[in-house]
Amino acid sequence: MHWHSYPTAQEASEACATHIAMRLEDALSGEGDATLAVSGGETPRRMFEALARSQLDWSRVHIFWVDERAVPPTSPLSNYRMVEESLIRPARIPRRNVHRIAGELHPETAAQRYVQDIQEFFGLTEGEVPHFDVIHRGLGVDGHTASLFPGDPLTEDHERIAAAVYVEKLGQHRITLLPSVFLAARHTVFLVTGAEKAPAVRAVFHEPYNPKLYPGQTVSHHGRNVVWFLDDAAASLMD
Ligand code: 6PG
Repeated sequence: MHWHSYPTAQEASEACATHIAMRLEDALSGEGDATLAVSGGETPRRMFEALARSQLDWSRVHIFWVDERAVPPTSPLSNYRMVEESLIRPARIPRRNVHRIAGELHPETAAQRYVQDIQEFFGLTEGEVPHFDVIHRGLGVDGHTASLFPGDPLTEDHERIAAAVYVEKLGQHRITLLPSVFLAARHTVFLVTGAEKAPAVRAVFHEPYNPKLYPGQTVSHHGRNVVWFLDDAAASLMD
């Protein structure tokens, strides 16, 4: 697991975008299309804006979501909406390449439908997991990643692709990809900025492996090609 830190959040975001673009470029050098699963929240907006400026063949890049809030795509809380504004529209990614989670549906239905979409796209049979070329994840101050929060049994679900979850402390239903998908990713990229995230970053790296307590450790410790992009504030407790 590698980490890099940069003086500002803007620089960390740009470096992260360059890294993702290079990994997608590698994936596109083969015959097939490339796949990218993205997270939401506020941190990645600048990174997506930088990624949208890269000269990738977006007609061959497919966008999926790591997680989504149970809200319509027009909601300011929608992860789809944030990515639409910062990446999909500016980069003119074709509609057919956009595989959003239907947050407007009942969460269980949205999760089932998302699993079916993924199975169809990747040509999976029951029990198989997708291998995304790149999965981008964030980290919450409490150590959550995707919508896997500390203590949630889903942090130990290594069977399914995605599930609905109720996040008690936010009073919010969400839909999230699950650990087996994170483990199967060809590349994982974390973007974490801000001093308030420093204790969570330190815990993921330095506390004993316990992803139920520190969901951010999911895959960070065992996955392939995991790279963290931090600003100096988020990395301040790493030494
Ligand atoms: C979401 C995200 C989530 C995010 C973390 C960090 O829907 O909220 O996908 O997992 O990555 O909450 O969010 P920030 O980077 O905005 O703090």
